[in-house]
Amino acid sequence: MRIFFLDQSGKPGGAELCLIDIAKPYSHRALVGLFADGAFKDLLEQNHIPVEVLTTQTIQVRKESSLVQGLKSLRQLAPLITKVIKKVREYDLIYANTQKALVVGALASFFSRRPLVYHLHDILSIEHFSQTNLRIAINLANRCASLVIANSQASKTAFIQAGGRSDIIEVVYNGFDPKIYRTNESEINKLQQELGLQGKFVVGHFSRLAPWKGQHILIDAIAKCPQEVTVILVGDALFGEQDYVKQLQQQVADLELENRVKFLGFRSDIPQLMATCDLVAHTSTSPEPFGRVIVEAMLCGKPVVAAKAGGVMELVEHGLNGFLVTPGEPQELAQVIITCLQETEITATIANNARTSASRRFDVATINQQIAQLLSQRF
Ligand code: UDP
Ligand code: GLC
Repeated sequence: MRIFFLDQSGKPGGAELCLIDIAKPYSHRALVGLFADGAFKDLLEQNHIPVEVLTTQTIQVRKESSLVQGLKSLRQLAPLITKVIKKVREYDLIYANTQKALVVGALASFFSRRPLVYHLHDILSIEHFSQTNLRIAINLANRCASLVIANSQASKTAFIQAGGRSDIIEVVYNGFDPKIYRTNESEINKLQQELGLQGKFVVGHFSRLAPWKGQHILIDAIAKCPQEVTVILVGDALFGEQDYVKQLQQQVADLELENRVKFLGFRSDIPQLMATCDLVAHTSTSPEPFGRVIVEAMLCGKPVVAAKAGGVMELVEHGLNGFLVTPGEPQELAQVIITCLQETEITATIANNARTSASRRFDVATINQQIAQLLSQRF
């Protein structure tokens, strides 16, 4: 099957990293079309997946856009849509991986008569999107997509609640290669030394810096923990959240935590960095659609504490393979951090359970088979 994948981002967020794994098996007969240049393109090339940047013009529409802004951006999209319609003639299927890709893909599908698949990586609710954007996404998916793949049951439920058709949507979780998450001890010791983490109890946070990812909750929580508890914040502001970065830096200064919070920026050595941690924290304040970082930490055999909402509840069972806390509650989070610091045996058992269950449930080979089956059944 020849697939034309579309993704709006030039930067490698979770949806883009997931797309690399999905596109790989089709790479000899596929093309990934991007709506921006950047590090995601380089990653696709490193993975030998054909890629083309289809436009370098910024598409102005944002998650919270109004109808007027939406219509303006539609005019802006016209040359891009025309380009996609021309190119798609060489492919059997359009696979839209993001919301703007859905808009472009739906119109291209209509004019080219190629079927459309929409991979839904978001919880389509007003917590995350404007009413206008929600309506556009649901209407286009309902009318134009032959199949919607949701990254969790939570994303599927929100889609249906927002008016999405239940007969076109299937859940497929993100897949991971467990081998990548087995690390070498001497390499980890070296990294620990480089980062000055020896002798500390390290809590890692591995998300782009954005208000809803809740890094501020973790900073508040460690102010309530013993001195040896140190935080590494891994990730960058990928989508222009510079004010939030300043706010986090100010919070660290106000709480006099400069020696206990390290901002490491965007990194490509996630498994190695996770291996230097004693605990990985996920602190999203709005429901997380899936949460790749949680599964990655589990595959590294690290205990995870995660915000109890959205897809996270399909990944973590409290006390069995991780810990769940109320989103936005630093006190509760601090309590779990202190428990992990003190109850090392129970925590290690939980982390081991996590590695076993995550390796079984999220193996990329099985996940890719699920996608192949869905595509071959429908097209
Ligand atoms: N990630 C990364 N480098 C960083 C921070 C994060 O490669 O510095 C990766 C992380 O390992 C995960 C992805 O970015 O695979 C984030 O995906 P997730 O589903 O957790 O959240 P999203 O950002 O997609 O909402
Ligand atoms: C999106 C979601 C994230 C999910 C990722 C991969 O970026 O925000 O929760 O893990 O897609 O599906």
